Amino acid sequence: MYEKYWKLKEKPFENTPDPRFFYYSTQHEEALTRLTYAIQERKGAALLTGVFGCGKTLLAQSLLDGLQRGSYRIALIANPQLEYSEFLRAIASRLGATGLPTKKTEILTDYLLDVLNEMLENNFSDGKDTVVIIDEAHVIEDKKIFEELRMLLNFQHKDRFLLTLLLLGQPELRKNVDNIKQLAQRIAIRYHLDKLSRQDSEGYILHRLKIAGKEAPIFTKEAQDLIFEQSGGIPRRINHICDMSLLIGFGNKEDKIGKDIIREVVSDLEGRP
Ligand SMILES: Nc1ncnc2c1ncn2[C@@H]1O[C@H](COP(=O)(O)OP(=O)(O)OP(=O)(O)O)[C@@H](O)[C@H]1O
Ligand SMILES: [Mg+2]
Repeated sequence: MYEKYWKLKEKPFENTPDPRFFYYSTQHEEALTRLTYAIQERKGAALLTGVFGCGKTLLAQSLLDGLQRGSYRIALIANPQLEYSEFLRAIASRLGATGLPTKKTEILTDYLLDVLNEMLENNFSDGKDTVVIIDEAHVIEDKKIFEELRMLLNFQHKDRFLLTLLLLGQPELRKNVDNIKQLAQRIAIRYHLDKLSRQDSEGYILHRLKIAGKEAPIFTKEAQDLIFEQSGGIPRRINHICDMSLLIGFGNKEDKIGKDIIREVVSDLEGRP
């Protein structure tokens, strides 16, 4: 709607996990480096936590983009609100297993663990690394599921893990994992994504505008400062504020977005996450 007015090729602040827009903030870069390290060095398991809207899902997408080019077999579980009996089945099926039982009553953990073990061994002999990514892992409540994940980590070839498990979720995930000592001990790498710094918040806005085709700044320095303060440095909130500001700026025929527009947007958005 406002793209033409602001001379943009597309909307810059969409809340979708589109890796083209990925901004390497200091923290996102560190998180990506650690998760990549966990995969490449076959560290077993890694844990990434962060408050909601800070970029975990987008980071997983960017990581996947990088991995697709390599020799990996990957299972991404984006919404793990699955019952205990369905969990391993979902992983096996995402890794390419066929002919798995569909009726819940027919799904047996031992059988699925055997299937998965065989798949991991086959991937290993094909020279492929297996990676299982579980996003939103904080919603997992059933301890039996964590127990199954721990069992997956027991599949090893000599001293080598046959899969890398990445657990991503909101901050409470740390506590949930730490409550299960045997699983916690297997998490070789941990990272917590915090809010963006003021500098990264500015870099983030400029970067997204640039990807959308706009090199010249649209937001004044004061506006950027206010966006940082009002968003708490959380990318999803920055997106909301910037998107609405571009719309209002277009409606008012502004040539720049100043702090007054940001104030107006923030008071409209009040109460939103
Ligand atoms: N580093 C980044 N570069 C570019 N955009 C980002 C970045 N981090 C987050 N975003 C933007 O913020 C939005 C929210 O990020 P994302 O959905 O990845 O957060 P999340 O941590 O998974 O949140 P939740 O806990 O609610 O699942 C994304 O759709 C994306 O547009
Ligand atoms: Mg997410």
